[in-house]
Amino acid sequence: MSKRFKRYIVTSALPYANGPLHIGQIAGAYLPADIYVRYLRLKEVEVVYICGSDEHGVPITLEAKKRGISPQDEVDKYHKLNKKSFEKFGISFDIYHRTSDRLHHETASDFFKKLYDKGILTKEEHEQYYDEENQQFLADRYITGTCPNCSNENAYGDQCERCGSSLSPKELIDPKSVLSGKNPVLRKTSHWYLPLDKFQKEWIEKWIDGHKNDWKTNVYGQCRSWLNEGLKPRAVTRDLDWGVAVPLPDAKGKVLYVWFDAPVGYISATKALTKEWEKYWKDEESGLIHFIGKDNIVFHCIIFPAMLKAHGEYIVPHNVPANEFMNMEGEKISTSRNWAVWLHEYLEVFEGKEDMLRYVLCANMPETKDSDFTWKDFQARSNNELVAILGNFVNRVFVLMNKNFNGIVPADQYVVDVNIDNELNVSCKTEVAKAIENYNFRHALNLVMNLVRAGNKFLSDTEPWKLLKENKTKEAGEILTYCLQIIAKLTIIMEPFLPFTSRKLISMLNLNEDILKWKNIETLKLPKGHKINEPTLLFEKIEDQVIEEQVEKLKGSKKVNSRQ
Ligand code: 2FM
Ligand code: ZN
Repeated sequence: MSKRFKRYIVTSALPYANGPLHIGQIAGAYLPADIYVRYLRLKEVEVVYICGSDEHGVPITLEAKKRGISPQDEVDKYHKLNKKSFEKFGISFDIYHRTSDRLHHETASDFFKKLYDKGILTKEEHEQYYDEENQQFLADRYITGTCPNCSNENAYGDQCERCGSSLSPKELIDPKSVLSGKNPVLRKTSHWYLPLDKFQKEWIEKWIDGHKNDWKTNVYGQCRSWLNEGLKPRAVTRDLDWGVAVPLPDAKGKVLYVWFDAPVGYISATKALTKEWEKYWKDEESGLIHFIGKDNIVFHCIIFPAMLKAHGEYIVPHNVPANEFMNMEGEKISTSRNWAVWLHEYLEVFEGKEDMLRYVLCANMPETKDSDFTWKDFQARSNNELVAILGNFVNRVFVLMNKNFNGIVPADQYVVDVNIDNELNVSCKTEVAKAIENYNFRHALNLVMNLVRAGNKFLSDTEPWKLLKENKTKEAGEILTYCLQIIAKLTIIMEPFLPFTSRKLISMLNLNEDILKWKNIETLKLPKGHKINEPTLLFEKIEDQVIEEQVEKLKGSKKVNSRQ
């Protein structure tokens, strides 16, 4: 079990505000964090959950340019859309901030200044392509040309998408500026660097090796391979007109590198949330946990910790439980090829079915290796697990209760099935907790479903409907009372995974949301005479046609050529 802290600060990667969210991102960095945070809240542990839009960087300026709008208009649009989608999907951030906010600019700028004043950053000069017509230096993505390896004429300054080789702008044959279409010229420019090589020797290597056993194998492994290659000084400024201005007199036209300013966004968001932000960031009794996808590992495990430590006032992350990627129908999710399920579209088409997607994404979370989302699997899990097991169990109990007992809890003691009780009190409280604390969300969800299965089986085995026919009302009443107790406890234990269903059940049971405390799992009891409400449909069966439509839509909108 990992170390326990007095309080927690949990973050999910700030998504770029230049496009909508897809379910791969959700399964990677948002759903696991949300489950973790909801669990901590149930445990009544002090926690803040931080996120926001990452609104800087070259792809945003390029995307805006393509659409003929300003970068600010571009990020305004997607900040709003993504914030709304997260809310509707029940991702329970305490704040969803944004990096174009003034408070963030100040915070990131002060952060850089502090490193500069401490003499940590080094300044180096090098040659970079410059567009004479537009009078500006060109970021790698602003340059296209012919790939030296495969002769693709549309390779970018950092990568050729045809042969996959990573490039530097100087390697391109006949380079052209994306802005003017003209050949750029090489000019000298200066940038500030973070001396990661020095930090590696001083502490990073030792610190990361200290986490060999408590970080996920994939996370530790990736860090190790960066360290084995040897960390190099990393430029933390860029020649660009969109971003946080470098706060130095000799830095006109320069901004902070987006990967310098974005993680500082976690700090500015906490500042925007609470006056007490410092206790989360500057006290060793706070556990900082970053939930991310695997492409962000180096930034959260090496570069940001290096920045925090160099600054001197901040704690470093305790854990970075990065996930692998989720594929779609056997292929890599791709924004440019439109091969994805977009969260906002799902929420529109499947309104009221948020928990079904939460369930399927969690059951299939890419925790240790890449996983695959298929619409068929979505249908099968929804119908065979949520509808047929959870929905069926709850519905049978409620219908029998309302028909035969007017919805009034008939007994104050009940036949106790020892197996179920053990599962409820041991398995749930301890095993589910342990699995969540160790970031094994798939396993945790499976344990919760085992409990539902046990309840469902108990009901089928004891057949209270038969007892009722035989006028054994007392026995039937005891069985149903017991089933209601299980459902009541389930509302708590399922809450991190299925928050909407949990609340529906609370209202069906005529209970109040303040029962939502982990400690109540053991003790919660509906007293004899308590009136429950009529059942509402928890999960609707997903028909074949709905799935076929989604598969058609996905295949129909697939783009052959890349957009970026
Ligand atoms: O990969 C991404 O989507 C980045 N925008 C994540 C940033 S995380 C943090 F550092 F802000
Ligand atoms: Zn190539």
